[in-house]
Amino acid sequence: MTDLTKKPAWMALKRHQIEIAPLHMRDWFLQEPDRFKQFSLQNDEMVLDYSRNRIQQKTLNLLFDFARSSDLSEKITALFTGHSINHTEKRPALHTALRAKDTALLTVNGEEITVKIQETRAKMQAIVEKIHNKQWLGATGKPIRHIVNVGIGGSHHGPYMATHALKEFAVSDLQFHFVSTVDHTHLQDVLEHIDAETTLFIISSKSFTTLETLTNAHSILNWLKHKLPCDGIAAHHFIAVTSAIEKAINFGIQRENILPIWDWVGGRYSIWSAIGLPLMLMIGNKHFMEFLEGAYQMDSHFRDAPYEQNMPVILALLNIWYTHFFNANATAIIPYSHRLHRLVAYLQQAEMESNGKSVNSSGHAITYATSPIVFGEEGCNGQHTYHQLLHQGKLLVPADFILIGNTNAHVNHHQDILFASGLSQAQALMQGKTYQEAYAELKSHDYSDEEAATLAYHQVIPGNRPSNILFLQRLTPKNLGALIALYEHKIFVQAVLLNINPFDQWGVELGKQLLPTILNNLTGAQSQPTDCATESLIKLYKSLHVI
Ligand code: F6P
Repeated sequence: MTDLTKKPAWMALKRHQIEIAPLHMRDWFLQEPDRFKQFSLQNDEMVLDYSRNRIQQKTLNLLFDFARSSDLSEKITALFTGHSINHTEKRPALHTALRAKDTALLTVNGEEITVKIQETRAKMQAIVEKIHNKQWLGATGKPIRHIVNVGIGGSHHGPYMATHALKEFAVSDLQFHFVSTVDHTHLQDVLEHIDAETTLFIISSKSFTTLETLTNAHSILNWLKHKLPCDGIAAHHFIAVTSAIEKAINFGIQRENILPIWDWVGGRYSIWSAIGLPLMLMIGNKHFMEFLEGAYQMDSHFRDAPYEQNMPVILALLNIWYTHFFNANATAIIPYSHRLHRLVAYLQQAEMESNGKSVNSSGHAITYATSPIVFGEEGCNGQHTYHQLLHQGKLLVPADFILIGNTNAHVNHHQDILFASGLSQAQALMQGKTYQEAYAELKSHDYSDEEAATLAYHQVIPGNRPSNILFLQRLTPKNLGALIALYEHKIFVQAVLLNINPFDQWGVELGKQLLPTILNNLTGAQSQPTDCATESLIKLYKSLHVI
């Protein structure tokens, strides 16, 4: 494959960037009253407003040319039809199959998967019904009141984010808790709020080898044994979601209480699978199906819409425009919704674990940037922490604002303020404030000429800083499903255009490999050599643990 940066379409974008760089969006907004109409899209209850970007129609045309110069359309087909696009792990990435409605049967390595998906969902529904109907009893005969999800990474972020986001759709009085890190205070905090007799633990681990999750699971089992000195604890108080069924059985979980996931579902794409059990337990089967429906509708949009009207394609191209042609190394996700405050962490894993790579699909080192740093914080909190840098800092940080139309909070005016805050941040980033405006403002506040002339320099805001607005009419299961699928596909398009594999994550392995030696050096009698800094800190740590 030709080096990306040598492609005519890439070079044309480079030339165009030089033309467009000195132009200001503020002028375009004054000159182009139709800019919103021209640069926005609606899909069901979601609107993407991408008018506040440093683009003109020509920019988009060149970006679409770039997309067409790649194998994007073939890769989209390959994604949906189960080709082994995760070639370094020799497997497909079929998260779309988990929400597909077509009855077409998909096979992976000759194995039929549609039926497996349906069977597993039926099993999830049966578990949910049993718990909701208070027929699932703890070892001492009491119904379940607390659900604790024990998992990390993709086995944590999705259920944690989505149960928080859709709290208003809860259909049961179950209490939900999440344990992810191995820090015992995390587990401790949860154990303090639950009651052993009425708690069900879901051990979510695709591999069932993840140290953090397994350590927590064993500590929980010991805690339960101590609290409930009776038989059948594991059978009554544990469910596992895993692709390593035998490992979960060896842990003590009963086969019928194990829900499968499969190799072809990546951890960070697994909320649609049995990893979503906490969400189904919270919002019930009907709403869970709406969540899948929203994702399915976004899948259909992504697969079928021309690039010019394709939300994930446009978002991905804009990301490439800034990362590669304006050297923007970071991107902010800013949900103006407390319910979505866990979305940032979820999308950090989705994007950075997928596209934080340095070699192309053939394993050759690449010279261009890949994933930007994804960060953010819910609005309005971000305004009072890092937005200063977005407005006046030296870095260009494109932002996605996620705004919600109707919420239950509307009645008390908070929602109006929240929505207006998001819009005003996007507007401020776009238009900025000139020296003359700052000066005039200071003069109107009775500053002397001299003071105003000096202070105005500090108050200039350059503007011309890009942002997208993703507007959801309401935060519903369906719209949340669509929003997550939108980002999944955006990340996929970026990966295809940059010629990288977004579905593996070899980078996380080395730390896992080094950990046993360090742990052994900390706790064992014998030490194996590491490096002087690590050894010094181990010595210091050990000196604090002398009894
Ligand atoms: O550390 C990376 C990772 O492999 C993620 O990709 C994954 O979501 C997480 O660990 C948890 O893995 P598991 O579900 O196998 O416990």
